[in-house]
Formats: sequence, structure tokens, C-alpha cells
Amino acid sequence: MRRGLGGLLLLVLVSGAAPPDRTVTLVIGGCTDGYLEPCGCGGQQAGGLARRAALVTAVRQRAPGAVYLDLGRLGPPARHAELAAALAARLGAVAVGCGAAEARQPAHLAVARAAALPLTNVAPPEATLPAMVVFDAAPGVRVGVMSICLGPLAGAELAARLGELAATATAEGAAWWVLLSHFDQATTARLLDRLPVARRPAVVALALTASEPTPRWTADGTTWVTVAAKGRSLSVVEAHHTNGRWQCQASTELVIEGPRDDVVQGWVDACFAAQKVTESGAPTPPAAPAGPTGAACAECHAATVAAWRQHPHGRAVATLEALGRDVAACLRCHDEDLRQRGVRGAGADRGVHCLACHPASAAHLQAATSRPGTISVDACTACHTPDHSPHWQPATYLAQVAAVCRAGH
Ligand code: HEC
Ligand code: HEC
Ligand code: HEC
Ligand code: HEC
Repeated sequence: MRRGLGGLLLLVLVSGAAPPDRTVTLVIGGCTDGYLEPCGCGGQQAGGLARRAALVTAVRQRAPGAVYLDLGRLGPPARHAELAAALAARLGAVAVGCGAAEARQPAHLAVARAAALPLTNVAPPEATLPAMVVFDAAPGVRVGVMSICLGPLAGAELAARLGELAATATAEGAAWWVLLSHFDQATTARLLDRLPVARRPAVVALALTASEPTPRWTADGTTWVTVAAKGRSLSVVEAHHTNGRWQCQASTELVIEGPRDDVVQGWVDACFAAQKVTESGAPTPPAAPAGPTGAACAECHAATVAAWRQHPHGRAVATLEALGRDVAACLRCHDEDLRQRGVRGAGADRGVHCLACHPASAAHLQAATSRPGTISVDACTACHTPDHSPHWQPATYLAQVAAVCRAGH
């Protein structure tokens, strides 16, 4: 009996009806969200195009022919979207999942199109994007890619549309298909539950807003892959064809350390350098409301001002200058003058100065008897966001700042 079965298998192989055992490697890059490189604010580093490029090159060294899929959401700002699109083109992306940001912003779509990226979105607000990209992942292995994000289609309609497209992919000779999802895990799972098992994707790459990738899992033949947003991670999917079936295995790597691709780093540096030029060369900013700066406090609170200058708040602009990143995108939190008055701070009292936390002290300048009022933690979290201050703890941070202010008292 067993011998007979073996003979049958041999016959099938000789006839060439079954494809030989093989492996296809997909590399999936997470949403960029305009993060060109880790900014350096705290431990929760964000993304990095140059590291992503180096990592993809490394994967291709161990798995030649690995294909690159980009989850999309390239910007804002538009000039950052431009670089992310250029990187996707450089890595030869076979499909770019068009995220909500691109779908809503014609400028971002234009940027992606200019880079000749194969965009896909099943539910765009305007029906100008292909819903699916079918490509050869390896000789003789066709794969379909679809992307979903916010759109006018409701759950049931969207599921039906995915089902139709899956059928089309099969008709076009695709062995399986990949879904790039900008929805959360639960929404995506509910959507796929409406599809017959045979129509479900082999791989779901899920864009996560969380910084760390969550555990992966497999259900009904679908391998779920999480890719952290802001370019923080990259997932590698190895699809093996054995015994007539495709099986996928995924691993995720964080794009926060390791070598950087020199060429891509050059693009990033040039992009930031151009933003600096724009700032200093910009026409006079809109008349800044007259108001005191930190320097106005030194007269009476000399010791406090001296202590503040040694504190990170007093060095916040210098931090950026040392990195060559004194650009609006960073100064908006590191330079209170830019934040409040639209002009870049000057002199020794640049940075997160006194008025960032004591806004009412303008009146106090007129009459020292008027009290600047108490500090609300809400004043801190505009800058101390989870992204830029991951170790934020109101009590300890407030105590540290208060100790600086009390230095002269
Ligand atoms: C949303 C506000 C915000 C933006 C935007 C921002 N930062 Fe920061 N940055 C912070 C805060 C808050 C800290 C302090 C974090 C802490 O210690 O908890 C910080 C800290 C840093 C540090 C660490 C300094 C040190 O002494 O350890 C660096 C470096 C830095 N930022 C660079 C940048 C760069 C470069 C950019 C632009 C690409 C940027 N930041 C944009 C808020 C911001
Ligand atoms: C003309 C002198 C003078 C100037 C200028 C001045 N202050 Fe004061 N400030 C005082 C005096 C006096 C007090 C009350 C005594 C004390 O606590 O040292 C005070 C108290 C404060 C307090 C504590 C308030 C409280 O309720 O206990 C804060 C906060 C403060 N000043 C912030 C500022 C800031 C910020 C500036 C700059 C915008 C500033 N001051 C400029 C004289 C001045
Ligand atoms: C205008 C933006 C902004 C506001 C508002 C702000 N911070 Fe900061 N804070 C920063 C930046 C930027 C840094 C890091 C500066 C650097 O090192 O270059 C920082 C650093 C700090 C640090 C030093 C952390 C360390 O590594 O030692 C403490 C503590 C802190 N902030 C507490 C507070 C508290 C408490 C508040 C509210 C009362 C507050 N900050 C409001 C931007 C802000
Ligand atoms: C990051 C926020 C922040 C910045 C920037 C800041 N302060 Fe304060 N300041 C505080 C906090 C918090 C306290 C504690 C009192 C409170 O909670 O109201 C305080 C208290 C004070 C006091 C009262 C000290 C006492 O003995 O009670 C003075 C005076 C003062 N600040 C002046 C200044 C001056 C001058 C500057 C600029 C050199 C400055 N502060 C910058 C947050 C800040």
C-alpha cells in the first residue's frame, strides 16, 4: 500500500505537475510616517531609512532575490514622503500598500507615483489606484498583494471585494496573496472571518502603532506578521513550498541599530540640511506677538536661570545644533520661541525656557507681586509625548524641574 503511494508520488513529480520544493522570501517594511531616522529623544527610537536599506541588503545577501513590500504611509511631511518613496523605489518595492495618509493626500499619491511605485489599495476614497498588484515573487511563483486602509467601503462590502480580488488573483495564476493592512488586529480579523478559508490571504502584514512588534500567530493557514509603524521594524517572511503546500514563517527585526546605508543616509542628511536653509532664508515670520523671553527673568531669578541653563531644557536647542538637526520638525519641541512665537530663539536663553512652563509670568514681570500660578502637567505632555519621552513619569519629572527652579530660593 505504502509502496504504491510512493510510486504515485514519483509519477506526479516526473510528470512535472507539482512545482519543485522552493522558498520565496518577502521583506515587509513598516509604515514610515515621515520618520527618516531615530531622533534621539529617549529610548524609544523611531525608524530610520538608512538602517532599513542596510537591513534589506543584508537579508538579500542571505536570501538572494528577496522581494520588498512597503506598507506605505510614507509621510507627512511631503519632503519626507518623497525620501521614503525614493527608498521604496531603490529597494525595488514590488508593491506599496497605500495607507490612509497617502489615500487622503493627493500630494503624497503624486510623490509615490513620481517614484513609479506600484501602489495598491482596495478601498481608496477615489477609485484611481489598482486594488491589487500581481507580481512574480520567483520564477514561476506569482503572488498578489492588496492593501486596506480607511475608505468608503463598510466591513461586509470590503470583505466581499477582498474575496472577489482573491478569486482574480487565483485566476491570474497567483499561488497565494498578501494583505497589507492599516487596520488594527481585531478589525482585520473580523474582516477576514467573512471570507471563505480558501480565499483568505496567506500572509497578513499588520501596521502597528505600537513601538514593539507583538507576537505573531497563524490561523486558518494565514500567517500574521506585525510591522511596527514609524519605520521601526521590518518583517521577513519565508514562504516554503513543500509537499504541494505553501507554508510561511515570519520573523521581525527592529530597525533601531546596526549599520546604515551610506547613500540613503546622505539623502536624509541633505533633506535636513535643506530644511535648515529654508528656515534661515525664509521671509520674516509673521509678526511675533510681543512677549518676554527667558532672559527677562534673569534680573530677579539669576540663580534659577543659571541652574536652568545647565538643565536639558536650557540646552535643548544646542542638542539639535550638535546633531545638525536644528530644523522646524525638531525645534517645535526643543525651542519654545519657535513654538510660541514662530521665531527661532536667540542668545543664551533659547530652548525650553521659563515661559514654556510659567506662561502667566508676563504679568508678573510688570509687578513681581503677581504670581505666575501653578504648573499643570498638561503643559509638559505637549512635548513629552510617548514617542519622544518614553520614560515620562509626571512625579519624578516635575520634581526634577522644580528642584532646578528652587536652586536660587
Ligand atoms: C514632540 C516633541 C519633540 C520633537 C518633535 C522632538 N523632540 Fe527631541 N526630545 C523631546 C523631549 C520631551 C525630550 C526629552 C525626553 C526625556 O528625557 O524624557 C527630547 C530629547 C531629545 C534628545 C536627547 C537629549 C539628551 O540630552 O539625551 C535628542 C538627541 C533629541 N531629542 C533630538 C531630537 C531631534 C533630532 C528631533 C527631530 C528629528 C527631535 N528631537 C524632535 C521632544 C521632542
Ligand atoms: C523684577 C523682579 C522679577 C522678575 C523680572 C521676575 N520675577 Fe518672578 N518673582 C519675583 C519675586 C520677588 C517673587 C516672589 C519671591 C520669590 O518666590 O522669590 C517671584 C516669584 C516667582 C515665581 C514663584 C511664584 C509663586 O507663586 O511662588 C515664579 C514661578 C516666577 N517668579 C517666575 C518668573 C519668570 C518665569 C520670570 C520671567 C518671565 C520672572 N519670574 C521674572 C520677582 C521677579
Ligand atoms: C516645549 C517642549 C517641552 C515642554 C513644554 C516641557 N519639556 Fe521637558 N524637555 C523637553 C526637551 C526637548 C527635553 C530634552 C532637551 C535636551 O536634552 O536637549 C526635555 C527634558 C526634560 C527633562 C530632563 C530629562 C533628563 O533626561 O534628565 C525633564 C525632567 C523634563 N523635561 C521635565 C519636564 C516637565 C516636568 C515639564 C512640564 C512642567 C516639561 N518638561 C515641559 C521639552 C519640553
Ligand atoms: C519645564 C517646566 C519649567 C521651566 C522651563 C521653568 N520652570 Fe520654574 N517651576 C516649574 C515647576 C514645576 C516649579 C515648582 C512649583 C510649581 O509646581 O508650581 C517651578 C517653580 C519656580 C519658581 C518658584 C521656586 C520656589 O522656590 O518655589 C520660580 C521662581 C521659577 N520656577 C522660576 C523659573 C524661571 C526663572 C525659569 C526660567 C529660567 C523657570 N522657572 C523655568 C517648572 C518650570
